[in-house]
Amino acid sequence: MKRNVYIIGLLLFLFAFSCKNKPTQTDGTSSDAKDLFVLFEENPNQKTFFSDKKGVIGQNGMVASAHPEASKVGVEIMKMGGNAIDAAVATHFALAVVFPFAGNLGGGGFAVIRDKNGKAYTLDFREKAPLKANRDMYLDAKGDVIQGLSLLGHLASGVPGAVDGMVEIHKKFGKLSWEKVLQPAIDLAENGVVLTEREALGLNNNKQTFKKINGENTPYFMNPDNRDWIKGDWLVQKDLGKTLRSIQQKGRNGFYEGEVANLLVKEMKKGGGIISHEDLKKYHSAWREPISADYKHYKIITMPPSSSGGVALVQLLRSVEQYPLRKWGFNSDSTVQVMIEAERRVYADRAKWLGDMDYVKVPMKELMSRDYLKKRWSDFNFAKATDSKVIDGGAVPGYESNETTHYSVVDKEGNAVSITTTLNGGYGSKVVVSGGGFLMNNEMDDFSIKAGVPNMFGLIGNKANEIQPEKRMLSSMTPTIVEKDGKFFMAIGTPGGSTIITSVYQTILNVIEHGMTMQQAVNALKFHHQWLPDRTVYEPNAFTEKTLNALKSRGYIIDAQKGTLGRMDCIMLRPDGTLEGASDPRADNTSVGY
Ligand code: DON
Repeated sequence: MKRNVYIIGLLLFLFAFSCKNKPTQTDGTSSDAKDLFVLFEENPNQKTFFSDKKGVIGQNGMVASAHPEASKVGVEIMKMGGNAIDAAVATHFALAVVFPFAGNLGGGGFAVIRDKNGKAYTLDFREKAPLKANRDMYLDAKGDVIQGLSLLGHLASGVPGAVDGMVEIHKKFGKLSWEKVLQPAIDLAENGVVLTEREALGLNNNKQTFKKINGENTPYFMNPDNRDWIKGDWLVQKDLGKTLRSIQQKGRNGFYEGEVANLLVKEMKKGGGIISHEDLKKYHSAWREPISADYKHYKIITMPPSSSGGVALVQLLRSVEQYPLRKWGFNSDSTVQVMIEAERRVYADRAKWLGDMDYVKVPMKELMSRDYLKKRWSDFNFAKATDSKVIDGGAVPGYESNETTHYSVVDKEGNAVSITTTLNGGYGSKVVVSGGGFLMNNEMDDFSIKAGVPNMFGLIGNKANEIQPEKRMLSSMTPTIVEKDGKFFMAIGTPGGSTIITSVYQTILNVIEHGMTMQQAVNALKFHHQWLPDRTVYEPNAFTEKTLNALKSRGYIIDAQKGTLGRMDCIMLRPDGTLEGASDPRADNTSVGY
């Protein structure tokens, strides 16, 4: 009898305790009651978030992208009966018009798709080195890197993959006609788009470079009144409209052959570039087996090489899986310390092992295996920072920028798309194809142009990522879809060069471990370490004084970041079946749902 009373008492206590700690609605969005014992609680002494922007809630579909017009286009396509893939394609072409900074026809990227039945696919539409490329093409006679050659101007471009990529995903999954999904972008190009302040500034800041590279051929980037662009100006792009019409009418051939191809090759010849008709004809994107890896009871569906992002993300998550991050708390010293140490080891692996799998053998399974990661962790010590020199060698300058773009789309049937695409630097190589009205990428810089010499993101590489004709340069793009209990849970991604991987990593942990809503996870301040240089950068206020002091006392070199980290565009399925679109408050990124 007495024993029963004890048991009943204990049950009542546990019930009361669990009620007290039930997730509560704090900001109009709810979190996952099953997983999250408590919702994220803000530390009153710390400004943990970049802003208090709220997520956008949708019942039927959601598009999260870098530009409000592009997200609107995607939603309109779904309202017309299109699925998430139709919407993603329409959003892509709209971004090429309204967001020339990174949206593109002349670039490339990666798509991760999970269809409504739960089957996952990835498409690699990364640029390729032209046939005439060679390992030492950016070195002088002494073997030194010719500064800027892989970054600016015609020789910096890889063979673009974006148009082929869009054609491929539409062919496989699209419901609406190609003609229909292209139309909104054509309208935006021909009728014009209103510049945001950020876009106006971007164009003005690059005016001189555009002029230097293109001569007087910079009509799209100079205000018709011959003054600087300002917010609210209309940007009309007639030539780009013509190129889009050609793609609309002839699909792949409307870009890789015929008039547009002629313009592109002519432009290359004019400026000493090497992309030929043969390169364009031969370019094809590649369907690849997705990385599908468990992390706790979640499944991470992400991109295999030629992006390093997927392998690195899984390595990072599995390296810290053993630790009670939730108990330690968001950005507490222990949490940050193990995350940094994981980053150090994973970026060293990236430099050594990763490259285009069509050219080099990448030991993917091994790198992501828990046994291997455990061995890599054996020299970790809570008392003292590991020295990057002990992990491997090299020295590197700074990195920071956000010129790629990511968009996530989910439709009412449950199809989900996560795409990251880029020209690499802002406005790519700054080459505008004369008469074609589109910008070319400077993706060749993502190769290891000389072993051990850092690229624009401070990343170093080696043989695995050296230049070879038709090879794809190694990327950090990490478009990812997370499944929970066999169902779609999140679509995630961001620009940010080398910081892409760590921003995706933190955003996933913010939701899964710290109980944040999708938007809170995006708003949350971030940090980054990439093995070399051996220092951690953080967004101002990301760390409390206590965290900073604790890390410094253990030998970590830590600098406040001048800019921001990440431009996330993510979507999460909430427990009530609605979608939360979370676009980054750090720029013009906007989610639109319906
Ligand atoms: O593929 C890569 O990793 C880079 N080309 C991405 C560039 C990028 O994210 C630019 N924005 N910061």
